[in-house]
Parts: sequence; C-alpha cells; structure tokens
Amino acid sequence: MTDYCIRNTEEEDFVKIADLAEKCSPMVTERNSIYHIFTKFFKSTSLVVELDSGELAGFLLGFVSQEDPEEAYMHLLCVDPKIRTRGIGKSLVEKFFEAVSLKGCKKVYLITKPINWKSISFYRNLGFLEEKKGNIINIMGASAIRNYNGMGEHMVVFYKYIE
Ligand SMILES: CC(C)(COP(=O)(O)OP(=O)(O)OC[C@H]1O[C@@H](n2cnc3c(N)ncnc32)[C@H](O)[C@@H]1OP(=O)(O)O)[C@@H](O)C(=O)NCCC(=O)NCCS
Repeated sequence: MTDYCIRNTEEEDFVKIADLAEKCSPMVTERNSIYHIFTKFFKSTSLVVELDSGELAGFLLGFVSQEDPEEAYMHLLCVDPKIRTRGIGKSLVEKFFEAVSLKGCKKVYLITKPINWKSISFYRNLGFLEEKKGNIINIMGASAIRNYNGMGEHMVVFYKYIE
C-alpha cells in the first residue's frame, strides 16, 4: 500500500477534508466553516492522513474541553474507504490520545449514531465504553442516550480514560 504520514492540520486542509467527508457516511457532514474552525483553531488536536501522492486520505478533528481541561472530545473521524481496515483509524485515535495527554487530559469522549455499527465495533475494539447513565435506549445492541441531540436523535456516547 502507498506510504502515508499522520500530521497536524494546516489551515488550508479544510477544503480537502470537506471533500473527503462526503465519502464518510453515515458520519455527519458539516459546513466548510466548521472544518475551517478545526484546521485553524484546533490544529494541535486535529490530524490528517496524507499519502505520499499528497492526497488527503483521513482525518480526526477534536479539541480539549474549555470547561474541564482534563477532558477531550473527538468530533469527527474518517478514513478514506479505499484504505480502511489497515490500522489507520486506530493510529489516528492513538495520535490524538498522545496529543491531548500531553495537554493534561485524562478522558476522551465522542458520540456516534446507533446505526453506525461499524464505528461502534471500531470504538469498542479500541477499549471505549458506552455511557450507561441517563435516559438510555437500546438500539441494535448499543446503549444510546435518548434525544441526546434533540428529539429523536438518540446518540451513543463513548468514553475512554487515558492510561
Ligand atoms: C470507523 C473508521 C474510522 C475505522 O477506520 P479504519 O482505518 O478502517 O480502522 P482500523 O483499521 O484502524 O481498525 C482498528 C480496529 O477496529 C476494527 N474495525 C475497524 N472497522 C471495523 C468494522 N467495520 N467492524 C468491526 N471492526 C472494525 C479493526 O478490526 C481493528 O481491530 P484490530 O486492531 O484488533 O485489528 C472507518 O470505518 C470510517 O472512516 N468510517 C466512516 C466514518 C465514520 O463512521 N466515523 C466514525 C464516526 S464519527
């Protein structure tokens, strides 16, 4: 397979991230302005996978909580379908953990849709646990928080402590 590197975002990456996000269903897509905020203001906790050809083939956009600096949040994660299941998603998550650990974080959160069974398997495999507190609804074997993102938008909330 082509060689690649994982690096922090540069501001102009947001355009390529927006293009790649179109291939990341069922992950949500955002307006370009949201990707731009991450690549400009959250560079140190936002990562891209760059192939030797210069093509951008994955990204993880996240940040450290301003409310609790010991907590971090992974907002979006995607690996190009043509290079999936080769450990690249796992490497992105590990690099994010390293980055936020250096900033003093002890816990990482993310949310995913209960229908996104691939991502649920992926995160469970990496040792993330599902939040079981609150108004829980079981959907396809996953524990989702009812109406987490508004009426009818039940979401699985995952967390993992940084060792
Ligand atoms: C989820 C996603 C990022 C995984 O990326 P990836 O590069 O294919 O994952 P990896 O190859 O690093 O897999 C890491 C581990 O998860 C497991 N895994 C990955 N995809 C899986 C799947 N579809 N079903 C079950 N397990 C899976 C792998 O077997 C691997 O386990 P191992 O370390 O024991 O070998 C990728 O499928 C993706 O981009 N999906 C679309 C976007 C999305 O849903 N993002 C998450 C929600 S925000």
